[in-house]
Amino acid sequence: MLREIVVYPDRRLKLISKEVVSFDGALHDLLDDMYDTMIAKNGVGLAAIQVGVDLRALIINIPLEEKEGNESQPKENTLEMINPVIIEADGKEKFQEGCLSIPGFYEDIERAKHVRVEYYDRDGNKETIEDDDFLAIAMQHEIDHLEGKVFIEKLSYIKRKKFEKEWKRKLKEGVV
Ligand code: CO
Repeated sequence: MLREIVVYPDRRLKLISKEVVSFDGALHDLLDDMYDTMIAKNGVGLAAIQVGVDLRALIINIPLEEKEGNESQPKENTLEMINPVIIEADGKEKFQEGCLSIPGFYEDIERAKHVRVEYYDRDGNKETIEDDDFLAIAMQHEIDHLEGKVFIEKLSYIKRKKFEKEWKRKLKEGVV
């Protein structure tokens, strides 16, 4: 089922999400709905707060190595992370980021190149994953959402001002 995406500057995006304690049907429904919503919007990642639920849950669409034409992303390729914690972060990398809560805006953001993350799957099994590519960046972006942070907070003062001005205009024109 599709859920409505919370769009910047909605104050819910500033909430610090709560630990998931029940790995139950409600959590599974939330994750399934987040998947449907992310795919419908052509996103590569989504945190629960972006559909208005302040729980520490996120999903990331892992890109296929070889994608043929319009072949859609299989659901098995979606990484679901509950209560994720970054336990190692090193190196630096700039990567162009976007966010379903700030549709149509993209900017280069610097983050750690390599991260190791501990998390739980939807059934409460503890897992560890590490990456030094797209996934590392995506995990940092989505985990930031759980802390009430959006990627535009990493922009320089000048770029942030320019963004806020343009965003206000877009909201006013109803083109977001
Ligand atoms: Co985002």
